[in-house]
Amino acid sequence: MTEASDKAIELTIVVPTFCERENIDPLLKLVNEALEGIAWEIVFVDDNSSDATAQRVWEIGRHDCRVRCLKRVGRRGLSSACIEGMLSSGAPYFAVMDADLQHDPALLPNMLKKLREGNADLVVASRYMPGGSVGEWDAGRVRASDYATRMARLITRQPVSDPMSGYFMLRREVFETALPNLSSLGFKILLDLIASSPVPLRMTEVPLKFGSRLSGQSKLSNKVVWEFILLLGDKLVGRYIPVRFLAFGVVGATGAGVHFAVLGALFKGLSLPFSVGQGAAVVAAMTYNFTINNLLTYSDVSLKGRRWWRGLVSFLAICGIGAIANVGIAAFLFERHEPWPVAAIAGIFVGSVWNYAVTSRYTWKV
Ligand code: GDD
Ligand code: MN
Repeated sequence: MTEASDKAIELTIVVPTFCERENIDPLLKLVNEALEGIAWEIVFVDDNSSDATAQRVWEIGRHDCRVRCLKRVGRRGLSSACIEGMLSSGAPYFAVMDADLQHDPALLPNMLKKLREGNADLVVASRYMPGGSVGEWDAGRVRASDYATRMARLITRQPVSDPMSGYFMLRREVFETALPNLSSLGFKILLDLIASSPVPLRMTEVPLKFGSRLSGQSKLSNKVVWEFILLLGDKLVGRYIPVRFLAFGVVGATGAGVHFAVLGALFKGLSLPFSVGQGAAVVAAMTYNFTINNLLTYSDVSLKGRRWWRGLVSFLAICGIGAIANVGIAAFLFERHEPWPVAAIAGIFVGSVWNYAVTSRYTWKV
């Protein structure tokens, strides 16, 4: 056993970062001031930012052991970053906040006080309660956030004014009991935690005036909307069917549209032989499916550069085998006098399950 240090850590602050180098020092200064007299540490979970965010944190950590960085390579995702940050700590309380100073560190002591008093498991810094505000958002984002909050209520089962907040504090037991059920998809870690908790949580909220970003840019993009849909889908039906399989199926269905467009253009438009048109359409549709699945279905482990090309080759090979199985099964059933649509659907189903199962294992390695 090592000797106990004079103060055990009570609070670990987890901060996901992606290109936030300029915000690290100002954030640390405010956290340090706010948490005077509290035994805290902070862990930045950085997804290999190109602006050397991790290097800056490590530099500071060399002189201050309360400041740590967990760097992940080849991965993206705010939720999974927060989860891994919490997993790296043994503290009894965790806080999650953004790096860009939109979340005021001055709220931390009061949030901690509410947990220490023992009447709450989770304290949310809410923009949607008296005293809170969303700050300088345009009308579009206000409406989008409002709509998403209503959707989120489908899966929270509990009243909470701001289930999409990125700023909250919780007991480690809450995290640990929710852990096996977490979807860890996308941006909405709080929503994931609430919806994954097997028991209702005692929640308290404190008002948050959402500030403006100090430096850098928001990572909120259209992809975040898609990831939100995946999270909702996973929480609603994930128990019965993997949500990535559903996404894969939807992408595959739109791929059929690409197939017909290419076939039509080559066979009807350019009067090329049917087999040439069909062959080109198959390759085009598969390449399209790979590209879109890489962006959406597997946005958290998206392949880039050389790995993209290797992924494409493995995807084409695996789906090629899937197509052979598809045709083989459909033909077999058709010969056994099953109605042709039944034979076709059975072939498509078996082919899709094969494609999904094998590409998720070998192309994206999840
Ligand atoms: N590690 C990691 N990986 N961090 C990320 C990633 C990622 O893929 N994407 C974003 N982050 C970090 C950012 O660097 C920042 O510290 C924090 O997560 C929030 O990202 P922003 O890009 O600043 O998000 P936002 O301000 O638009 O959204 C905030 O408000 C939403 C509610 O409207 C966040 O707090 C969201 O969690 C919240 O849902
Ligand atoms: Mn932000």
